[in-house]
Amino acid sequence: MGIHLHIGVLAFPFGTHAAPLLALVERLAAASPPGTRFSFFNSAISNSTIFPESESDANKNIKAYDVFDGTPEGEVFRGTHFEAVGLFIKASPGNFENAIEVAEVDAGLKISCLITDAFLWFACDLAEKRGVPWVPFWTAASCSLSAHAYTDEILKAVEGLKEKADQEQTLTFIPGLSKVHFTDLPPEIFLDQNPTPLAITINNMVQNLPRSTAVVLNSFEEIDPLITKDLKSKFQHFLNVGPSLLSTTTASPSPDNDKTGCLSWLETQTRPKSVVYISFGTVITPPENELAALAEALETCEYGKMVSWAPQARVLEHGSVGVFVTHCGWNSVLESVSRGVPLICRPFFGDQKVNSRMVEDTWKIGVRVEGGVFDKTSTVEALRCVMTGEAGEAIRENVCRLKEKAAGAVGLEGSSSKNFTKLLEIISVQK
Ligand SMILES: *[C@@H]1O[C@H](CO)[C@@H](O)[C@H](O)[C@H]1NC(C)=O
Ligand SMILES: *[C@@H]1O[C@H](CO)[C@@H](O)[C@H](O)[C@H]1NC(C)=O
Repeated sequence: MGIHLHIGVLAFPFGTHAAPLLALVERLAAASPPGTRFSFFNSAISNSTIFPESESDANKNIKAYDVFDGTPEGEVFRGTHFEAVGLFIKASPGNFENAIEVAEVDAGLKISCLITDAFLWFACDLAEKRGVPWVPFWTAASCSLSAHAYTDEILKAVEGLKEKADQEQTLTFIPGLSKVHFTDLPPEIFLDQNPTPLAITINNMVQNLPRSTAVVLNSFEEIDPLITKDLKSKFQHFLNVGPSLLSTTTASPSPDNDKTGCLSWLETQTRPKSVVYISFGTVITPPENELAALAEALETCEYGKMVSWAPQARVLEHGSVGVFVTHCGWNSVLESVSRGVPLICRPFFGDQKVNSRMVEDTWKIGVRVEGGVFDKTSTVEALRCVMTGEAGEAIRENVCRLKEKAAGAVGLEGSSSKNFTKLLEIISVQK
């Protein structure tokens, strides 16, 4: 059968960006009529980590294309995470344009819509040139998107603060962020102080997002009703279509990948909600002194299991898991919410501080480690608070309530399901 509809998908191949975009595209592909082709543009390294290893597991409507990652030919990249991001940004958008040309020849059909990571703001120009919709996907929470959207107001407000200590004031002037402190904000907002390639990119994104046809999030309206209402007024469409993890439109449930033996180990645990699950995502390794403090604090729990990789969504689903110690990246927070597991937060960079503030003070589904870093006392305190005692009980109730709302959102007639249908409509319009 021929290809009738060709949709281009542009990934940002760092951190946990490409995987949730692919999860969204898999849902869209599963819900699209035959003859729909999704061309997925990503760096080779990222591609090899997010696509299933066996061809037969792959969705036939999705075809991956390699995009040049900016590392000079023949060289092996040895820099930091942020240096890699810088190189990639420098190679864009030419690297994407080259790959798109190849894909259009391949499919015998021009692209009629661009779904992209929101960071790839230049896609609005590519889309405009082609006369097709630009649909940016914001891979984080609506709270951090809102913070970025209010960059100008925040900078003005900071100017008005008299002393450094005043930065502990909260952002009462932004709907839904009244519990967030200035000090929680992503550093990229303060471009003058951090003119990094990523900060420049994010600020360009903020300028250009209003030109999009729809801004899409892996979240659900009910978690942030005030922010949702406000952001709906700023964009043509603002569509919460998650959590993808709970969505029934997910093409294939992730296979029982237990190569590190986590799930079978959890099976041997006899007490419900007794296990502390710790993970800092794909990019971060906490400093050694903090890891030592964390280990000392955990010694009160007697035993544990260390693995290089865990099937996180399945671990969190297991009845023996009682808390998730996390860097508070959005995907981790959302997976924990989807499974009803409370959080202990040790944020590092980007949106993680905003998320952890929302976790503790707005959603009340977890706590941040006192002082922002692991030391033995603060870590034991946080573990006690969540695992035992009344405060922990309340936190658990709150996260379970949010889990129900998340499940409702992706259910029949749920808000995310409705918004997903709208998204399908938007991307299916033929030129
Ligand atoms: C993407 O990665 C998968 C898994 O490693 C591989 O089979 C496939 O050939 C890759 N595709 C591209 C276009 O690089
Ligand atoms: C998204 O869902 C909300 C809540 O159900 C609904 O009010 C809104 O109309 C939906 N948006 C679209 C564009 O369908």
